[in-house]
Amino acid sequence: MKILAIETSCDETAASVVEDGRSIITNVVYSQIAHHSKYGGVVPEVASRQHIAKIHEVVKSALDGVGIENIDAIAVTAAPGLVGALLVGVNFAKGLAYSTGKPLVPVHHIRGHIASNYLAYPDFAPPFVCLVASGGHSHILHVKSYTDMEMLGRTLDDAAGEAFDKVARVMGLGYPGGPLVDNLARTGDASGYTLPTPKSPGFDFSFSGLKTAVINLVSNEKSRGNTPVYADLAAAFEMKVATMLSTTLIKAAKSVGVDSISVSGGVASNTLLREMLKARTAEENISLYLPPLSLCTDNAAMIASQAYFQWQNGDRAGLDLNAYPTMDVSRVGFNS
Ligand code: KG4
Ligand code: ZN
Repeated sequence: MKILAIETSCDETAASVVEDGRSIITNVVYSQIAHHSKYGGVVPEVASRQHIAKIHEVVKSALDGVGIENIDAIAVTAAPGLVGALLVGVNFAKGLAYSTGKPLVPVHHIRGHIASNYLAYPDFAPPFVCLVASGGHSHILHVKSYTDMEMLGRTLDDAAGEAFDKVARVMGLGYPGGPLVDNLARTGDASGYTLPTPKSPGFDFSFSGLKTAVINLVSNEKSRGNTPVYADLAAAFEMKVATMLSTTLIKAAKSVGVDSISVSGGVASNTLLREMLKARTAEENISLYLPPLSLCTDNAAMIASQAYFQWQNGDRAGLDLNAYPTMDVSRVGFNS
């Protein structure tokens, strides 16, 4: 079964065709970063307008060599995300479904991120515990089946990627900050600065205290006429975030008694987090599934993969499908 998926929840206009939830036939991503970087973050209206301008080209090139007549269903990210951005993809998908008479499958963006590992590892299957850490989300989920999942913990304030982006901004590195902090940290010494260890209950996270500590440190140093050693600061910050994420994730997996862990979302491409998780899961005899870097950040192949399993579960949307800026990841279906 071939599914064409469309993803426009944030600043990537993406379309992809995936067969049986596992094998990528085409995967097209148009990144809007160049349009947002001068503002230091994603500007929602700019995102919507870029999606409108590019979506037809992106979908057309995802269908190149496949043909719409060979598509069995059309999937689209309908929540969560920037609502004006989501609406572009939802409306385009509805138009395609209407004109071709093909069924429409709505997908939750975070469920899509979880599915990125189904594409990377053909035999990977639930149950497992997954960390989804991106610019908008930081969740730990118990994925009991392809469509039944329970949230075990989440950020109480900033998302992990958002904290990376804000720290990068105060260091004058640019946007998006995660990869830039990651690169800089490779040349730094994490013991060069002492940052607070964030505390939060259960399997929740908190990044805002850590982020504020970095911001204050930079402004105090500057007010004394000093230039902070940014590489050391990047390394110290990254060490705290990676330690918090990996420790909490392993604790959560043990608490529900699963021996497989996966990570996805943009922050899953962080070098130290990947290394730390590889080492710690090996010590604990836990299997670790990390997507390749190309599937960590937003793409439509992961949406098509999750759509296949939602389809098998009977999930369909009518042409009255709407877009939702927030939605509980454990919610079943999109009908209100
Ligand atoms: O999943 P994603 O593409 O979009 C959202 O759904 O948010 O994630 C983007 C986020 C950004 O905040 C970016 O700074 C962060 O992922 N990111 C990283 C790295 N690469 C991307 N954070 C830390 N280290 C990285 N190497
Ligand atoms: Zn995402």
